[in-house]
Amino acid sequence: MHPSSIADKMFRFVVLFAALLALAAANTTQVSQCQHNQGALPRNTHIQGCTRPPCALPQLRDAIINMEFVAPRRMTSMRTLATAYMRVGSTTIPVPYDLGANSVTCNHLTNASCPVSANQTLRYTLRMFIEAFFPVGTEVTVEFRIVDQSNAPVVCVRVPIRIVSP
Ligand SMILES: *[C@@H]1O[C@H](CO)[C@@H](O)[C@H](O)[C@H]1NC(C)=O
Ligand SMILES: *[C@@H]1O[C@H](CO)[C@@H](O)[C@H](O)[C@H]1NC(C)=O
Ligand SMILES: *[C@@H]1O[C@H](CO)[C@@H](O)[C@H](O)[C@H]1NC(C)=O
Repeated sequence: MHPSSIADKMFRFVVLFAALLALAAANTTQVSQCQHNQGALPRNTHIQGCTRPPCALPQLRDAIINMEFVAPRRMTSMRTLATAYMRVGSTTIPVPYDLGANSVTCNHLTNASCPVSANQTLRYTLRMFIEAFFPVGTEVTVEFRIVDQSNAPVVCVRVPIRIVSP
């Protein structure tokens, strides 16, 4: 084979590969491992409208967080909890955020229902209403976690957010 033809094929391959990566990345938010709570990272996390944190979340709307994760064991029920970590001077203050009915994880699995079996791949959509009492410009880091019926950790993601006007 002519060398330039090989180079050409490789170039095409690299371009195609990069395009596929970009496409896949568009549905992934770069969240990180939790620091204050236990739980593995989900296989994928996508906060709507946000690829690179800090995620800009508009007031008076639901922030929509999609996750795909593998059930680490059989589970009969799950709860989702959110905690904001606010920096005040050199200390970090945990502020639990009430998710209300949205904390009932099993009601928001989109392709399975509870009980779930070990190793089952689950898709989950969390909605979190952004109250107006968070002033525009607030920047905090939030840890979202899911625990099972015995409060044992399932998954956890950490992501910086910024509140913006509606
Ligand atoms: C991204 O997510 C949207 C909606 O959830 C879906 O329709 C689309 O196929 C996804 N794209 C990729 C590249 O996975
Ligand atoms: C889940 O996966 C683990 C590791 O691959 C395996 O040992 C276990 O038997 C699986 N459990 C079920 C219920 O499939
Ligand atoms: C849920 O969706 C995931 C990802 O598409 C898939 O791998 C899994 O098999 C689905 N689970 C069920 C129970 O359909």
